[in-house]
Amino acid sequence: MQRKEVEKSYINKINELRKHDKAYFKQDKPIISDRDYDEIKKEILNLEKKYSYLKNKNSPSQKVGYEPSSKFKKIEHEIPMLSLANAFSKENIEDFLKKIKNFLNIKDSEKITFSAEPKIDGISASLKYIDGNFTLGLSRGDGKTGEDITNNLKTIKNIPKKINKPNFPKILAVRGEVYISKSDFKKIAKQFSNPRNAAGGSLRQKNPNETKKIPLKFLAYGFGIVEPKNFEKQSEYLKLLKTWGFNTSPLNRLVSTIEDIEKNHRMIESQRSTIDYDLDGLVYKVDNLKLQNRLGFVTNSPRWAVAHKFSAEKGFSIIKSIEIQVGRTGALTPVAKIEPTNIGGVVVSNATLHNEDEIKRKDIRIGDTVCIQRAGDVIPQVLYVDKGKRNKNTKKFDFPNKCPSCGLKTIKEFNYSMKKKDAVTRCPDPKFNCKEILREKLKHFVSKDALNIDGFGKKIIQNFWDLNMIKYPADIFNLNFKKISSLNGWGDLSATNLEKAIKKSKKISLAKLIFAIGIRHIGQENAKTLAKYFVNIKKFEKLFDRKKRKKILNYLLELDGIGETQVNSLETFFLNSININTVSNLVKELNVTDFKTNKFGIFYEKTIMFTGGLSKMSRAEAKALAEKEGGKILSTASKKLDYLVVGDSKPTPKKVEKAKQLNIKILDENSWYGLLNR
Ligand code: IVH
Repeated sequence: MQRKEVEKSYINKINELRKHDKAYFKQDKPIISDRDYDEIKKEILNLEKKYSYLKNKNSPSQKVGYEPSSKFKKIEHEIPMLSLANAFSKENIEDFLKKIKNFLNIKDSEKITFSAEPKIDGISASLKYIDGNFTLGLSRGDGKTGEDITNNLKTIKNIPKKINKPNFPKILAVRGEVYISKSDFKKIAKQFSNPRNAAGGSLRQKNPNETKKIPLKFLAYGFGIVEPKNFEKQSEYLKLLKTWGFNTSPLNRLVSTIEDIEKNHRMIESQRSTIDYDLDGLVYKVDNLKLQNRLGFVTNSPRWAVAHKFSAEKGFSIIKSIEIQVGRTGALTPVAKIEPTNIGGVVVSNATLHNEDEIKRKDIRIGDTVCIQRAGDVIPQVLYVDKGKRNKNTKKFDFPNKCPSCGLKTIKEFNYSMKKKDAVTRCPDPKFNCKEILREKLKHFVSKDALNIDGFGKKIIQNFWDLNMIKYPADIFNLNFKKISSLNGWGDLSATNLEKAIKKSKKISLAKLIFAIGIRHIGQENAKTLAKYFVNIKKFEKLFDRKKRKKILNYLLELDGIGETQVNSLETFFLNSININTVSNLVKELNVTDFKTNKFGIFYEKTIMFTGGLSKMSRAEAKALAEKEGGKILSTASKKLDYLVVGDSKPTPKKVEKAKQLNIKILDENSWYGLLNR
């Protein structure tokens, strides 16, 4: 066959496969049998094998897994499935240990035992058992709501379907990782870029018979709901899991000192290549569940656990060009476009150069051969230049002094906490109208931790943006779905699905909304703190009013975690009428739910203030407990205050005095513990 004919036949087959993908995944109406479908796929792969010049991004050899189906029922997890904070160094681990000890208010010399477990790079799932029967299997989803993938999970051989053990809890959600072993992956490697994608794609197949074809395994390591809880330690639970018939890791250990931790990490990292599944680090969990309970959570991850990553994978490539990306905070980030190269199973074609100083310091030029590092889900970065390979055609990069998006002169801010000029070049965007910033803000707005609009990702934002369909967040709620259904790549079904997802996202908590707006320096934790303070959207909207704002911002300074940086940022944001309009237009489209305080706690509708250190718990834990019991923390004594808790260690006499004058109930340490029943 002539090359042209080969190419034509190849493209035809790919297009045919795409047609069937659409019929199967999107419309739920397969036109051909699974076997015929597989036949077309095989023909494409065979052609690629025979003619090495054939390549197409829609080929099954290039596609990253199967297209996820939107067909699964969404079900809320009874206990959220959170993620983990990462630690990359000994210092990070020391920090983790210190924070735990501070929170629990225990001495540095006291030991805490951790369950050290391998962190398999797979897809997490939660398996619910009622009376020993596997009844519901959920994917992690956004952590709060997962997808019902029970039937697919049932095809996994090492998942027990029925457990007949007297000590098995009446209700138990077993959490763990679905993965493919490296040896099994080799057999199907042509279809997927790495084992994790293969596992994810297979697990989210609509047809369990497709899942069955791929050799998935399950490794158990955690729990969600448990009734009754008949274990007190994570290590005890891991042992029980094994006796109940679950696959657990033989590499699980108990560690406590930093030396233990480092030694175990080194040892397992050195065995990494001989272990038959992909590991990207170790997880340390406080072994004692009572302590875990005391430590609790920050927004997305527990205080009692951390992921200690292995060192990153490295590779070499050539810089083809350097582009500047403008982020939602106005930061100009130089990105190296490199010759695509496979680093540890993932094809990398972009790597960050961080900022202007880094380019200068590392003397990075266009055309240079550079070492690239990729660590887990972190953006790949350029480590250094292989100067031996530098030729005379390499070109220095002139960092722009104007924003490539709006043309304004860029700035470098003064960082007050570091007491020096920031390394980051920024678009000052005084009018909050720089196009790329606006577009990046939209991407943030729809992202998982913000509005979390199902199926509305960065690519769609870009697409609608290019078509001038959206500019501000409120535009998302006024899209023309008729028009969307006629766009390239869209149809009635996909447009209706998007419409439904957008409608669903309209109900949003105040904390998520504050985060979604994307005010600089207001991350998830701060957004939650602010939501706790404002309680409802009406009160938050008072920030729009200049006079009221001033007063409020003063109060905010008193909140834990809110400092001058945050207050200044809020001030700058709301000084601009475009921002006020953007937010009020948005609020009109939404149903913003109030910050939820626990309505059943002993401090429901009560306010509490602390002064002086407590002996049995840190201030942070005491505040967390008061909030868990429905209370609101205040930092100044006023008539609004219900309780002042006076710790034994150095209370402020003025505060106690004022509370006495105002006739506020004063609790000493003992009565505080007594109230909490501790
Ligand atoms: S514990 C709140 N244990 O890592 C506790 N996670 O980055 C969160 N993972 O979503 C999970 N091995 O998919 C835990 N032994 C292990 C793990 C593990 C792998 C994954 C899991 C999780 C992610 C967090």
